[in-house]
Amino acid sequence: MRSNMKTKTAIAIALSVMAGTASADGHSSVEVLHWWTSGGEAAALNVLKEDLNGQGVGWTDMPVAGGGGSDAMTVLRARVTAGDPPTAVQMLGFAIRDWAGEGALADLNDLAAEQNWDEVVPAALQGYSKFDGQWVAAPVNVHSTNWVWANSAILAQLGLEQPADWDGFVAAMQAAQDAGYIGLAHGGQAWQDATVFDSMVMGVGGPEFYQAAFIDLDPEALGSAQMVQAFQRMETLRGFVDDNFSGRDWNLASAMVANGEALFQIMGDWAKGEFINAGQTAGEEFQCFRVPGTEGTVTFNSDQFAMFKVTDETARGAQMTMASSVMSPEFQVAFNTVKGSVPARTDISDAAFDACGQLGMAQLAEAAASGGLFGSMAHGHANNPSVQNAMYDVITAHFNGEFDAETAAAELVTAVELAQ
Ligand code: BGC
Repeated sequence: MRSNMKTKTAIAIALSVMAGTASADGHSSVEVLHWWTSGGEAAALNVLKEDLNGQGVGWTDMPVAGGGGSDAMTVLRARVTAGDPPTAVQMLGFAIRDWAGEGALADLNDLAAEQNWDEVVPAALQGYSKFDGQWVAAPVNVHSTNWVWANSAILAQLGLEQPADWDGFVAAMQAAQDAGYIGLAHGGQAWQDATVFDSMVMGVGGPEFYQAAFIDLDPEALGSAQMVQAFQRMETLRGFVDDNFSGRDWNLASAMVANGEALFQIMGDWAKGEFINAGQTAGEEFQCFRVPGTEGTVTFNSDQFAMFKVTDETARGAQMTMASSVMSPEFQVAFNTVKGSVPARTDISDAAFDACGQLGMAQLAEAAASGGLFGSMAHGHANNPSVQNAMYDVITAHFNGEFDAETAAAELVTAVELAQ
């Protein structure tokens, strides 16, 4: 408690003395902290860099790898505490709310009013982009985590269809393994384990259970027989992962599907960015479908750019140019068709999107209308960062064999209680 207060005081001082971030020669520029470091992510980031470049806004890159952004958020905290926050920061869900609550984020209300963001940004996203009625972040996209990415050639060779249910999914991985392929491409990093776990919880218990466990943090749901079953499904998946999975980056796991080494990967639709970057086409070399058991639901996350308060007018102008670009309909199409995500606006045609993008857009709208749209726990949209990290620890310890499924569910109850 005491050290927390100390940190908060340090941050308040840091924010109050902070200078602007116009470049030394007075030209407009932004310093952007983000975790888009894979090939597909870099290609998408380039769309933004070039857009800003065309408007005379320079770019200083501050990449910190690691999906879910935990590592990027650690670096951000250090930068702010040192009185040197980046101008623009990629952020997810509850982290945006935390920083807004600390008074660190710039007010985007004038721009939002001018461009009518209230009307065009989906309600589910506004809960994170606005704090106390004030716009504090510009949403770039909507991703979702409950996707399977499949190698079409292996499916065809083994005479397999896209599996209709969990048993069919397991049977397909078994058939692939029996034929000498890797059933499931996976990287053993806590955030990747957690990304897969989003779908196990939704698949076992459906929307009510997901809500109770991940959003309401109900101890009964967290320690329930359904949670034990979700962990047991993780054990089943573990049986189809190769021996070298530990520490592997997610994009290398995507490459295993793209190269025909592995049949499936369970990953958010940023994986599609890797397939596209490798020259592949949705519905041809690779396929996408919802994790069996989660059909009709979407566990989403939205990358947003939060702007830190700056005093320098040139720097503030650059931030507003960036926020405005991010929200423009043309940019939302140009960026998201490369990134693998779908637009953060409801008024965009799906014509420029590939088969997976069109499916993603339609399913997002359906899930929003039917009550099947939920924030991803793994990507900071279900609960606050300390609860999220506590969940990561249990999920990854279990995946690595430290706990059996019953113990893991019990540990989850305790870890979440302590983190609140
Ligand atoms: C972000 C995506 C990113 C992925 C992997 C997620 O948390 O929302 O934009 O591609 O992590 O780095």
